Amino acid sequence: MPLCGVDDVAEGAAIGVEMELFGEHHAFIVTCADGRFHAYRNLCPHAGRRLDWAPGRFLLKDRVLVCAVHGASFRVESGLCIGGPCQGDHLLRVGVEVEGDAVMLTSL
Ligand code: FES
Repeated sequence: MPLCGVDDVAEGAAIGVEMELFGEHHAFIVTCADGRFHAYRNLCPHAGRRLDWAPGRFLLKDRVLVCAVHGASFRVESGLCIGGPCQGDHLLRVGVEVEGDAVMLTSL
């Protein structure tokens, strides 16, 4: 299942992807760090809210993604929370791999 194109995510950036799978709505964050792609559920481990401040728009600086709700900060390459109310927790990772010019969802 394609999540996005490899050109959709700039180095160090994050995008939001919404999709219906098996009759359920899913929201993901796709990031790129050092040329490798990572994906997480768009669900903050602090209070279970979305991290984006508007659909698909994230606070991001120096490869750190900041939850728009209470400010927890996460490394884009690992999903590790490095500051804020859930420090030490991780975003929920989903499996991805690159096939041609697409970033494919491989596992939930
Ligand atoms: S919901 Fe993300 S920091 Fe509180």
